[in-house]
Amino acid sequence: MHAKNRLSTSGNSSPSPPASPLRRRSSSTAKPYSSATARRSLLRRFAWIVLSILVRRQGVFLFAPLLYISTMCFYMGNVQFDASTVPFVVYNNYNYYNKPASMAIGSVYRSPELYAKLRHDMDVDNSTADAFSYFDSSGCSLAGVQLNSLLGELIARGCRYALKQSRGLFHAKYQPYGKRAKVGDWRPCINKSSGGLPESNGYIYVEANGGLNQQRTSICNAVAVAGYLNATLVIPNFHFHSIWRDPSKFSDIYDEEFFVKALENDVRVVDTIPGYLMERFDRNMSNVFNFKIKAWAPIGYYRDTVLPRLLEEKVIRISPFANRLSFDAPPAVQRLRCLANYEALRFSNPILSIGETLVARMKERSANNGGKYISVHLRFEEDMVAFSCCVYDGGRRELEDMVAARERGWKGKFTKPGRVLQPGVNRINGKCPLTPLEVGLMLRGMGFDRSTSIYLASGQIYDPQKYMAPLLEMFPLLQTKEMLASAEELAPYKNYSSRMAAIDYTVCLHSEVFVTTQGGNFPHFLLGHRRYLFSGHAKTIRPDKRKLALYFDNPNIGWRTFKRHMLGMRAHSDSKGVELKRPNDSVYSFPCPNCMCHTNRTEDSKASAAQ
Ligand SMILES: *[C@@H]1O[C@H](CO)[C@@H](O)[C@H](O)[C@H]1NC(C)=O
Ligand SMILES: *[C@@H]1O[C@H](CO)[C@@H](O)[C@H](O)[C@H]1NC(C)=O
Ligand SMILES: *[C@@H]1O[C@H](CO)[C@@H](O)[C@H](O)[C@H]1NC(C)=O
Ligand SMILES: *[C@@H]1O[C@H](CO)[C@@H](O)[C@H](O)[C@H]1NC(C)=O
Ligand SMILES: *[C@@H]1O[C@H](CO)[C@@H](O)[C@H](O)[C@H]1NC(C)=O
Ligand SMILES: *[C@@H]1O[C@H](CO)[C@@H](O)[C@H](O)[C@H]1NC(C)=O
Ligand SMILES: *[C@@H]1O[C@H](CO)[C@@H](O)[C@H](O)[C@H]1NC(C)=O
Repeated sequence: MHAKNRLSTSGNSSPSPPASPLRRRSSSTAKPYSSATARRSLLRRFAWIVLSILVRRQGVFLFAPLLYISTMCFYMGNVQFDASTVPFVVYNNYNYYNKPASMAIGSVYRSPELYAKLRHDMDVDNSTADAFSYFDSSGCSLAGVQLNSLLGELIARGCRYALKQSRGLFHAKYQPYGKRAKVGDWRPCINKSSGGLPESNGYIYVEANGGLNQQRTSICNAVAVAGYLNATLVIPNFHFHSIWRDPSKFSDIYDEEFFVKALENDVRVVDTIPGYLMERFDRNMSNVFNFKIKAWAPIGYYRDTVLPRLLEEKVIRISPFANRLSFDAPPAVQRLRCLANYEALRFSNPILSIGETLVARMKERSANNGGKYISVHLRFEEDMVAFSCCVYDGGRRELEDMVAARERGWKGKFTKPGRVLQPGVNRINGKCPLTPLEVGLMLRGMGFDRSTSIYLASGQIYDPQKYMAPLLEMFPLLQTKEMLASAEELAPYKNYSSRMAAIDYTVCLHSEVFVTTQGGNFPHFLLGHRRYLFSGHAKTIRPDKRKLALYFDNPNIGWRTFKRHMLGMRAHSDSKGVELKRPNDSVYSFPCPNCMCHTNRTEDSKASAAQ
């Protein structure tokens, strides 16, 4: 879940001085509103009318987009792209190897200027007060603006690509709704064993390092390894981490009794190794043989190399254990991972109870939206901003804060000779943490209006007075755990980063829509968990940050265009629906098909299968 594991470090080529907005502007002068633009919207409207007639008649769903696209292809020949719609054109124009990257669009943080410019149009725009109905699974929600946006997206990607993709996009878009919902339904199904367990081959002890969700990976992988080797798992030990500074033990975070019980037919789990076995080691864990295993080892390695040693020693230790088992594994191993992650791991009662209290309060505060709220995982803490090496608009003070934070957290790592920070390149590559303002702009563009309740999952935001104000302006109903709970209620958790993250996890899990803004273990686990719990209907918005950087740094973009892009981005997130796990994907993000089964197909599915 943390910056340190996921963000690639910034580049190390030539230095990039602060960009010059003036020069950049000259390279992308606005085209005046031309007759071509007018013609384009007329044509689009015509195509839309044809399409909506077709759409009202059932059975032509897949034909309609083709018709629309051929119309678009017909007129696109004489319409010029504006730079903001076609990111790849921009990329072709700016060859990073020949020109300083600082010139490129998207390399400078100028989102506040864009907000100032769009703010009025945004506030008077009341056309999408229906943002949540978009997510309703109770009917075929087909607001014009949404379809338009999807088509806008298709145009932006060019006809050839669109033709290739349209089937998938449209299919995925309509599947979860109405009658067709039954076609794509998945439900949790993890086969549990019923018979007795074979004799134990010995005890496995692992150290789970990292933050909350990296520990979670280790726990689930340890269950899988122990089960596969017919070994007994010792409740994993949580390493005290210098950055997380959280001394919590397994039972502080998770319900240990429940965990042992849920696994009882599949893996033996014990709290401690029996004393008689430990006597051989002077009752000292440091004397137990420690396996050093290379990262992402296949399960075969455990069978062939670890098992013989386990049989010999009866107790082994594996430390570190983070990421020591490959994503890809036989179904028997994946089943155990599913079981551990989705069924056996439950937060301890105190965490669960405050988490559920906050969920209830969120729903109460979202009464005007039928109790629905969206959750946003924001990573704009000081350490995250410092680690990203991105530059925002905080001037000298920000620069000094970040240098200090980098020195505190990663002594010397960023000041080594030859190490060059490239904030502009990082921004273009979509590596910069989104600011609260950018999250607000994006969500308003995606059709969520001022009355939307938002739960903000986050640590301590950097310079909150400055950075939080615009987001609160755009979404006055925004809440954090500190706002929802009293100081006394939070006191038992406040000094423990993992417990605080566990509370955020619980509130995000039960939100209508979950918005990620940065990679990491936290969103990856939530993504999978929500897919598992809500049969794939849980919506997750994963913005394309490379594109966002271009839109945010475009002084010529208007509200309508911006919104069209944002709606397209959201439609693209939605089109992912239930994605199936590919070999290198984690079963913790992609529970289908290892942890879930497809329901019986209905009449509808036969019809669509025939196409
Ligand atoms: C949007 O606002 C305009 C004027 O402010 C009003 O005429 C119109 O009815 C509103 N539309 C909706 C859907 O609320
Ligand atoms: C569970 O077991 C049944 C029958 O043995 C099998 O058909 C099904 O595919 C299994 N489910 C999973 C997720 O492996
Ligand atoms: C574990 O036990 C099962 C059932 O008795 C057996 O089929 C399997 O071969 C055993 N695996 C190992 C690694 O001991
Ligand atoms: C355990 O053993 C290690 C080295 O083998 C030693 O440094 C440590 O002090 C021992 N711990 C205890 C509690 O005896
Ligand atoms: C949390 O830590 C702070 C500073 O380290 C300390 O003053 C405070 O008493 C701690 N609170 C609790 C509830 O332990
Ligand atoms: C999976 O990842 C491994 C190592 O990261 C890589 O070598 C392999 O090509 C990947 N396989 C696929 C199908 O992407
Ligand atoms: C699916 O359900 C239908 C009735 O709704 C039933 O006739 C059919 O046998 C079922 N198919 C399977 C594979 O279970």
